[in-house]
Amino acid sequence: MKVGILTSGGDAPGMNACIRAVVRGCLSKGMDVFGIYQGYHGMIKDDIQQLNIASVADIIHRGGTILRTARSDSFRTEEGRWKAYENLKSHGIEALVVIGGDGTLSGGREFSKQTGMKVYGLPGTIDNDLGYTDTTIGFDTAVNTAVAAVGNIRDTSSSMGRTTVIEVMGRHCGDIALYAGLAGGAEDILIPEQAYDIDKICDEVKAGVARGKLHSIIIKAEGVALSTQALAEFLELKTGCETKTVLLGYIQRGGSPTARDRVLASRMGIKAAELVEQGAESAAIGIHGDEIIAVPLEEALQMKKKSHTDFIEICNALL
Ligand code: F6P
Repeated sequence: MKVGILTSGGDAPGMNACIRAVVRGCLSKGMDVFGIYQGYHGMIKDDIQQLNIASVADIIHRGGTILRTARSDSFRTEEGRWKAYENLKSHGIEALVVIGGDGTLSGGREFSKQTGMKVYGLPGTIDNDLGYTDTTIGFDTAVNTAVAAVGNIRDTSSSMGRTTVIEVMGRHCGDIALYAGLAGGAEDILIPEQAYDIDKICDEVKAGVARGKLHSIIIKAEGVALSTQALAEFLELKTGCETKTVLLGYIQRGGSPTARDRVLASRMGIKAAELVEQGAESAAIGIHGDEIIAVPLEEALQMKKKSHTDFIEICNALL
């Protein structure tokens, strides 16, 4: 049995640990594994090479993805997917393991529906925006990176007596903001999933200043319609407190994965190898509680993500 593996979309810390687990899991079951470079783009371009046990040595701790990644418009077309299928067939590849976010798993679903090839999706994205799994590979690392940055910013904000609005990643999902905000002791958290009250935020900052608080931290997800700069200018105007902005950006996507992400990636990768060996139907692999689960791919992608909006209330209650 020959299996293809790729990473696609935005990279996430822990993807390498996951690649390692899938490759070694499949090899130990007697399968041959082929690395597809630069995601679906590489599948169409036939950028495919056989991997062995040494190909994935010394990567468990490394951020990014050794298979590299890309976004592919051609793969959104039937024509592009047939081309990719022909390339897989020319290598004798009969099953595909894809690691990535919503776009990657949706691409895998379309590919599976069109060609009949079995596709197993692993959730690799810092955004934690997939409804069928409690958490995604890379999320824990991204949150810890953001929390460390919030700590540093807090030091200087305190010393200077400032308010700082920190923008974290998350186009449609506010999970990084919610976890980093709560863990970082923020005054308030703004996420795309919930309306915010800007006057309430101003009142929180003013109340903090009135009781002698030296700084205020507001965490905002990038997907919130109001720009970070506009929010900071408004806060400064209404509270009279000097207000700065920090955009954490891609720093959240890189770095060595946390132990939690490495463990999650390894467990999920091994599960993928088991499904391939069993010839199971196309599925998305996730975690529910402490159990690694496999959900039919179509069903998994229809499950709605629940947002921990209660974290905002907890944050406010702890002021
Ligand atoms: O990986 C997810 C994510 O980090 C989003 O939060 C962000 O909006 C997006 O990727 C940006 O990715 P890129 O600029 O690489 O397309």
